[in-house]
Order: sequence, then structure tokens, then C-alpha cells
Amino acid sequence: MKNSLHSIKGTRDILPEDSIKWRFIENKIHEIMENWGYGEIRTPVFEKTQLFKRSVGEESDIVLKQMYSFMDQSKNNLTLRPELTAPVMRAYIQHNMERNNGALNKLYYIDSLFRQERPQAGRFREFSQFGAEAIGSNNPEQDLEMILLMLHILKDLGLENLNILINSVGSVSCRNNYKKDLVKFLQPYKNKLSESSKNRLDKNPLRILDSKDLDEIEILKKAPDIFDYLNREDKEHFNLILSTMKEFKIDFYRDPKLVRGLDYYSRTIFEVISSDIGAQSAICGGGRYDSLIEKLGGNPTPAVGFAAGIDRILIALSKKSFFEKNSSRSIQMVCLGESLNSNVINKILELRKLGIKVHFDTLRRSIKIQMREANKNNVSHAIIIGKNEIEKNKAQIKDLNSGNQVEIEFNEIINYFDK
Ligand code: HAM
Repeated sequence: MKNSLHSIKGTRDILPEDSIKWRFIENKIHEIMENWGYGEIRTPVFEKTQLFKRSVGEESDIVLKQMYSFMDQSKNNLTLRPELTAPVMRAYIQHNMERNNGALNKLYYIDSLFRQERPQAGRFREFSQFGAEAIGSNNPEQDLEMILLMLHILKDLGLENLNILINSVGSVSCRNNYKKDLVKFLQPYKNKLSESSKNRLDKNPLRILDSKDLDEIEILKKAPDIFDYLNREDKEHFNLILSTMKEFKIDFYRDPKLVRGLDYYSRTIFEVISSDIGAQSAICGGGRYDSLIEKLGGNPTPAVGFAAGIDRILIALSKKSFFEKNSSRSIQMVCLGESLNSNVINKILELRKLGIKVHFDTLRRSIKIQMREANKNNVSHAIIIGKNEIEKNKAQIKDLNSGNQVEIEFNEIINYFDK
């Protein structure tokens, strides 16, 4: 194929040997989310650009540099979703879920999203997340449930070597006081800051805390700690989460520099980092966003959530054979070309109705080659119908695990497997 028609940089095809792994992960997520009382929500791939500007923030990297935005034929400004919290909240407001009389709404999703980042190991332009959002409670128990749910899924998938970073960015007024003092602290160092940090000083100073620049990290060591700016309620909220995590024996690091790249957060924020996947080590991120729903036009409603990158989870699990081998029965129907008649095809259909996976070959190849195919397909049994078998109306059943072979009446095939 001409190179010009290859898939776009940062996007990938998922071929059958890998899609099994994706499905294994997705099935587990569905199972656990439903078990925890979360209902699945699916939203459109594109939304009005304004939705993301208003929620993720005009000055965030995602909005400034990473969105795939376009104008459609009717001159609407649209964007491929770069995250899912804002679309889910848009749907929550649009479908009047908030009418639910102050009850909790618990939603989850598994979907793909798009960010125009520089592609590298673990960083893609189209990638997938699963996530959960609990809408309606401002109590710390809800933040905790979110953290427990997130860790439960990650551990159940077999992830190890995880570190949890947690911080509180307080409510809006505390954060504004902190921002002022952070800017005051950084002003004398302005000339030593990188260009991007200089720009952020006016527009988005909290993001400077996230800097990877070694000189800036050194400067920031003496920066004021946001914890000291939290009001009494914010502190109590945060302390209750931390003390309960200790009771649950969950190791965490309270990272005063953790700020996250989306502007909608208030109070608790957290990230899960894996030491198994190299530079792009964030597996999961989330937090509380108590003013987002109101900002998007809904009634003031507190909420908290998280999202995890499935592509990165797969990288972390790549060294493990993390999904159980399929031990159920499966069959290769090995037939000489002329014996693959409607009787045999009917048997194949009946076997499949029993829930048994059946492979067969329409290439009219030799029995020997079809047996090789049976091994490749890793089936438990082969049903062999050669010339002799056709004449005698019989079939050979070979158990490929034990090597045992028996001859049975052709009409007994279904009875033989229906046990
Ligand atoms: P986020 O931290 O931007 O949060 O993304 C969550 C996770 O998505 C990251 O921890 C990472 O595993 C994965 N991820 C992000 N960008 C990429 C990429 N370019 N390639 C591969 N994986 C990536 C959010 O999106 C928030 N909506 C999370 C949230 C939900 N907060 C509250 N509720």
C-alpha cells in the first residue's frame, strides 16, 4: 500500500490477537462497574467545541494545543472529544437526570478519545479510557468510593507496582488566594523560568507546579503549599479521605505539586502512576469537580470521578499472560472438500448453537493441512470426515489434548458434545 494511505500517526489498528485482550479488559470493567451500581453511558464522538472550552479550560494545554477541532459544512465549530467528563455532564443536564430528586447518579463509560499530542510509547492521538462519575454527593465517602473502585479494577486486571498521588486544590476562593501567593513567590524568579512557565504565570500559574524542568523543580521546592490555603471544610474533607485510606491500608503520597491538567477540579485530585510503563506513567487520573455542572448550565451539583487509560494498562500488562486461557471446548471440522455438504454444515450450525466454537475450512485443502490448522487454532477437538467416514456415515473425534480418537456415528456428533 502507498505510504500516504497508512493509518494516521498516533492511531492504531487493533488486530484479532490483541482485540481479545481489549475485550477481556472491557468485559471485566463492565462486570465490576455494574456490580458497584454504575450504569453505562455512551456519548457522541464529537461535541460543540464550546463544551470543552468551558469545562477543560480555555488556558489548558488540551484546549490550546491538543484538540481536533473543525468546522462542519453548516459552519458549526465541533471537536472530537478530548475527554469524557464534560460530555457526560452535558448529557446528564440534557436528559434531566438531575431531576432525580437529589439522588446519586452513578455513570461509567468505556470509549475512545482524541488529543493531538506528540506520539510516543504510551501516548497516542486516539486512545481509550474507562471511567466513572458519581454525581450528587459532596461528601468525602464518595471520593473514597471512587478511589476504591479505581484501585479494585486496576488490581483485578492484574496491575502491580502502582503509586497513588493525591492532593486537594480546595474550593475556588482558597485556590484564588493560593494562586496570588504562588505568582508573588515566582515573580523574583521570572527570568529563570522557561518560556511556557512565563506564559503560565499570568494565565494558569498552578500548572507551573507540574513543571518537569529541573531548575524550576528546584525553585518550586520552596513554593507555598496549597494545603495551607484550604479552609476548614476543605481540610476536614481531605483529612477524612486520607485517614480512611490509611485505615484501608492504601499507600499514597500526598503530592503538594499535583495539580492535573484540566481546569474543572476542586478539592480532591488524584493520579495513579505505574512504574512498569516508562515515561508516560500515569495510568489513571481523577478528582472532584463541584462547580462543573453549574458552569455547563445545570443546577449546582457536586461530583467526583476518574478515568484510566486502557492503552497504558495494556502496556503495563504486556509482560504478563493476564487473561485466562480459554479452556472451553472448541472444534475444527476437518473435511475433505467434497464431504463438506449441507449435512456437515448443519452439524456445524448445531454445534455452534450449543455454544461451542467451530472452525472449518472452505479452501478444500488436504486433511493433513487442516489438522495443522486445528493446532494453530488451539482447538480442543477435531471432527474428521474423510472418504471412509462419508461411505460409512461415521465421524472420527480426536481429543487434541489427550490424543485419544474415537469413531462415532455421524448422527451422534451432537449427543457426543452435548454433555
Ligand atoms: P486525564 O488525566 O487527562 O483525565 O486522562 C486520564 C488517563 O487517560 C491518563 O491517566 C492516561 O492513562 C490516559 N491518557 C491521557 N492522555 C493519553 C494519551 N495521549 N495516550 C494514551 N493515554 C492517555 C481525564 O481525562 C479526566 N476526564 C478524568 C476524570 C474523570 N476526572 C474526573 N472524572
